[in-house]
Amino acid sequence: MEINGLVERMSDNLVACAVAVVVGVGVVALFALSRAEHVKRMPPLVSRGWPLIGHTLHFIATHSVFELHPFIKHGIRRYGKVFQASLFGKRTIVSADTELTKLIIQGEGKTFRSAWPDSLIRILGQESLIVTSGEEHRHSRALLVAYMGSNRSKLSSFLPHIEAATLEIMSNWKSGSIISFKDEAKHFTFSVLCKIMISLGKKEVAQTHTLFETYDDSILSIPLNFPGTRYNKGLKARSKLVAIIQEIINKRRNQTKCDHENKDLLDYLLSNAQEYSDTKLQDFILTALFAGHSTSAIVLACIVKLLHDTPKALQEIMEEHEKIQKTKTQGEDLDMNDYMKMSFTQNVINETLRLVNLSLGLFKVALEDVELKGHFIPKGCIVFVSQIAVHFDSDVYPNPERFDPSRWKNIKSSPFVPFGGGIRLCPGAELARLEISIFLHYFLTHYRWTIEVENIQMLHTPFPTITKNLPIRVVRRKL
Ligand code: HEM
Repeated sequence: MEINGLVERMSDNLVACAVAVVVGVGVVALFALSRAEHVKRMPPLVSRGWPLIGHTLHFIATHSVFELHPFIKHGIRRYGKVFQASLFGKRTIVSADTELTKLIIQGEGKTFRSAWPDSLIRILGQESLIVTSGEEHRHSRALLVAYMGSNRSKLSSFLPHIEAATLEIMSNWKSGSIISFKDEAKHFTFSVLCKIMISLGKKEVAQTHTLFETYDDSILSIPLNFPGTRYNKGLKARSKLVAIIQEIINKRRNQTKCDHENKDLLDYLLSNAQEYSDTKLQDFILTALFAGHSTSAIVLACIVKLLHDTPKALQEIMEEHEKIQKTKTQGEDLDMNDYMKMSFTQNVINETLRLVNLSLGLFKVALEDVELKGHFIPKGCIVFVSQIAVHFDSDVYPNPERFDPSRWKNIKSSPFVPFGGGIRLCPGAELARLEISIFLHYFLTHYRWTIEVENIQMLHTPFPTITKNLPIRVVRRKL
């Protein structure tokens, strides 16, 4: 009886096991089949490229800003607007499709998150706004957006600093001398940010700028951490900058009364984010300085070069600024009403941002399996969205390689993502526009200028740069 019962139980178990195996195999097979179906819907793979480096060299190859990124152009020609390639050691889905790019940018924080290499995170800091995600990012971002604002009253509080920094830089230009315009533009944007963020004075700005340049330079370097490498120098510069910021934080935490005339970003954080550690404050300030420094300066330098090469646009923008100047008495400050009259200047800025593209594009990682526009993107997959491809779409921007600010007179809305989008939309976009416009006003109305060297080029290396730092001769105009 007992033996019979045992046999019965064993055969029951065997049946149960067999059923479990069949069901398990079925589920795995179904999963594999559906995965295979999904994988079939992944974009085509370009080829594996070179061992280890894949297609990275082609991706980062230097090219003129006047052409669509050659790597993207080649990909589109052979495989269509969405394809897979091997970049920086990872299989990456590349999107040159405007609609897909917009969906991915908008999906930030939900289905995608920015993907940064560890080497860059070390330079920016673990608690940098650019590096953090989720609730931590949302909270820090809300603080920065509230401080920076985009409304007129907030921007108008920055205007006097911008104007003072502009005139200060120009006061060092001897009439008839040659200046390195890109360096001057960088000094200008750095002065403005230092004032707005931590109220640094003129002398302190001059002392810190070289250190900051070393730091800034390392962000785009090969991450080899040996004595003498750019990356190593950048990490050392970071430590020194952090020490300077910490000294200011200590002073502010101990003082009872504000010793500078306007509340700066650090004051704002100390009152509105009292729970923030010193490390978090350091990363916050450093990131804001980094993100707004070279970006606006490069755009400014490219505008000067592009206007020089496009006399019609130069004449139109000159007329706009001379008209504003005529309404002012000598030495009278600009105000927001003047800024609102700079509409052609905004067209020039838009067109430069469209053409020059501060970044080739953005890297994101998929947080879950997603299907977008018929393309399957598996969880963990790296995606590269090309901003250049959006801005060189000839259906939207005819003759995209032509610098034509007037095209913006007729554009009501268009795919335009120089400042990113979604929850990572650049919080400094309006400040950048204001800085560039005010600097241009004084530059165009106070100086006659010529580019002194032939064959200056604007290149992506892969980051945008202007060769020889744009040397120009400036001659003071009689006012
Ligand atoms: C023409 C000038 C500028 C351009 C083209 C530009 C472009 C961008 C882009 C494309 C992003 C989004 C990156 C992403 O999606 O991961 C971004 C983010 C950011 N930008 Fe700008 N930017 C400019 C100026 C500035 C300025 C003046 C500031 C000053 C505070 C600034 C601060 C930031 C910060 C803090 C972020 C990170 C936002 C976040 O992760 O939530 N930018 N910028």
